Amino acid sequence: MIEIFANPQELARGAAEYLVARSAEAVAQKGFFTVALSGGSTPKALYQLLADSFQTQVPWSRTHFFWSDERHVPPDHPDSNYRMAHEAMLSHVPVPETNIHRVRSENPNATEAASEYEQTLLQLTRQTLPQLDLILLGLGPDGHTASIFPGSEVLHETQLLVAAPWVEKFNTYRITMTLPLLNNGASVLFLVSGAEKAEIVKKVIEGPKQYPAQAVQPTHGQLLWMLDKDAAVALSGGHE
Ligand code: 6PG
Repeated sequence: MIEIFANPQELARGAAEYLVARSAEAVAQKGFFTVALSGGSTPKALYQLLADSFQTQVPWSRTHFFWSDERHVPPDHPDSNYRMAHEAMLSHVPVPETNIHRVRSENPNATEAASEYEQTLLQLTRQTLPQLDLILLGLGPDGHTASIFPGSEVLHETQLLVAAPWVEKFNTYRITMTLPLLNNGASVLFLVSGAEKAEIVKKVIEGPKQYPAQAVQPTHGQLLWMLDKDAAVALSGGHE
């Protein structure tokens, strides 16, 4: 499913409403809500909105936060996805520290950080294949999502739930949820904004399968694309 919004502010609002609805459902069903946050710049407006005008609608004390991927940097580093979410949202809302499950990306051994994160997910969900209630994802200009990049060996991962691929173009490791975990999500939401993404959005949504983002096909869950008008501009009609 694809939803198109007039501008980035409306996109963030649409995503906030969606998250609130998913959280209410999950808390009603099982008493808690699990969400994986995406990194990069696009979700920042959503996080700020959740901490601001949506603050009273999010069940913070029953919400467990994870990250769909993380950069291999300490949590206070400017590139840290945890830091971005902390500054934009988590430091402004009444969420218990014990509900914030960040990647221990300060560990110099990225593979160790990844397997530790997998254990955290398994212990908290008590599921051999955790089903997160909502997984937020972005889309890179090369068609990557989370930290699953074109040509990466992690594209073919079938056992690990969290991996630490080497990303040549950034000359660094990343820690990322893998496709088996992403595709087990109850709801997977791609959030994409801006004209610079229009071409890749068209290729990923309408084109032949060749990009990592296209491999995100939830087995049982819902797949939703939320785009602003600029990011959707190249799509052929029929998506409104
Ligand atoms: C990351 C992300 C990555 C991101 C895309 C889009 O750690 O960088 O998780 O997958 O979502 O690169 O990034 P922008 O939103 O900044 O365009």
